[in-house]
Amino acid sequence: MFENISEGTTYKSLINGEWIESTTKKTIEIYSPVDNSLVGKVQAFSKEEVDKIIENSKSAQKAWANKPINERAEILYNAANLLEEHVDELSKILQKEIAKDSASSTSEVKRTVDFIKFTASEGKHLEGQTIGADNFPGFNKNKLSFVTRVPLGVVLAISPFNYPINLSTSKIAPALIAGNSVILKPPTQGAISTLYLAEIFNKAGLPAGILNVVTGKGSEIGDYIVTHKDINFINFTGSTEVGRHIAKIADMVPILMELGGKDAAIVLKDANLELAAKNIVSGAFGYSGQRCTAVKRVLVVNEVADELVKLIEEKVKKLVVGNPDAGADVTPLISNKAADFVQELMDDAIAKGAKLLIGNKRDKNLIYPTIFDNVSTSMRLAWEEPFGPVLPIIRIKDMDEGISIANQSEYGLQSSVFTENVNDAFYVAQKLEVGTVQINNKTERGPDHFPFLGVKSSGMGTQGIRYSIEAMSRPKAIVLNLK
Ligand code: NAP
Ligand code: G3H
Repeated sequence: MFENISEGTTYKSLINGEWIESTTKKTIEIYSPVDNSLVGKVQAFSKEEVDKIIENSKSAQKAWANKPINERAEILYNAANLLEEHVDELSKILQKEIAKDSASSTSEVKRTVDFIKFTASEGKHLEGQTIGADNFPGFNKNKLSFVTRVPLGVVLAISPFNYPINLSTSKIAPALIAGNSVILKPPTQGAISTLYLAEIFNKAGLPAGILNVVTGKGSEIGDYIVTHKDINFINFTGSTEVGRHIAKIADMVPILMELGGKDAAIVLKDANLELAAKNIVSGAFGYSGQRCTAVKRVLVVNEVADELVKLIEEKVKKLVVGNPDAGADVTPLISNKAADFVQELMDDAIAKGAKLLIGNKRDKNLIYPTIFDNVSTSMRLAWEEPFGPVLPIIRIKDMDEGISIANQSEYGLQSSVFTENVNDAFYVAQKLEVGTVQINNKTERGPDHFPFLGVKSSGMGTQGIRYSIEAMSRPKAIVLNLK
């Protein structure tokens, strides 16, 4: 099915319904984080080509916006069905290209199938409203506002390496159902998986030019696309550093941003410790900690700290470390650079007196699952996002100290609180400065129709199927004035 897009290992890009190479003949080589083998090459488009591609997206969008929503929805259903047929194939590509473990790769693709179907059906239920004027002082029944939702135009979708399929689709599908065209700038490491996704939408019957994929390094082509005059909305997921930069240069273009996190799991003295430990371990070490919503610090009250630490350690010892095709839970990180950064944080914690319980073992970009106890607020690990399999445990005297340390973070994505006392759970949840608080569960984004948002340095705006459709459309009011 994908014969059109690859030529040997050189992948073309989907532009105006065709698979093309850059006229510059420049390509970027993508190597596997698993074994450093060449996965393939992707096109590196020039600024002149970007101009033409965006022009194409802009002109194609008009007809797409005029297509009845139910026809747009049919194309999304086709895409979901096609994707469902290719779960295993795409999962294997993810394993190779981003070293995602096999279970997480499969679940990413399956979840995306459901995402597309849900979006198609949600889009069909996006209705307008009629507002009378006579409830406002000085007006009578002779004035009515008819409010519908219209698309914004060309949406720029920029996705991160850790969920190339799901976090590209979480932008593409809501943008499309709302009537926008999409320029997708995929992560360079993850671009090949994303090109397969584009072919799914193409084969599903998406008209030419409604989804164009601009591959190229963000550091080289990113600013040019972001500041292009014909981009009407930027939907970005990635690091806080790049997000902040984009927010500065984007001028008045509206933006939806989901950025980094330092999610805390706060464990109170009456918590079900077995449940807490299970959630903390899967939350901290799933995809080797490379999730924005990974549990990135544990704040546990002194009374139960020893017992919780013991349970966490027991579970971490059972994690299988290795390559995705060997069924490992903890797999190599995305790059050596990423592993170097995690090592820096671990070295800092050791130098400042943290107690290493397990780990701090490394083989190139593979970091073994690591736990530090007695982490203090003077250590970088208490505040920075490692994006790797290392978990700091901070002991606290009570829930108020937990809330205080949690809120001192520059991030505000999610937090968990583990307790059997619903009053305490709500007390903590209401005081935490984050987008979402999970009671007795690990921090996580799904299900994908829930609102998902970060405050402070963790983001701007709200994702989630209906929220994303609304973010990528606007009200259009037509006022009828009767005589
Ligand atoms: P990243 O380095 O910020 O890259 C994200 C995307 O931005 C990539 O497609 C990248 O392209 C592109 N990019 C880089 N510079 C750009 C520029 N100047 N203009 C436009 N685009 C540019 O992030 P990452 O390493 O892929 O992902 C990890 C980070 O994302 C973590 O911090 C994680 O917490 C965060 N994240 C947050 C969420 C959330 O929902 N809150 C979800 C997932 C990940 P290249 O690949 O070509 O550099
Ligand atoms: O990496 C960030 C993702 O949005 C996290 O999604 O909680 O489903 O793993 P997840």
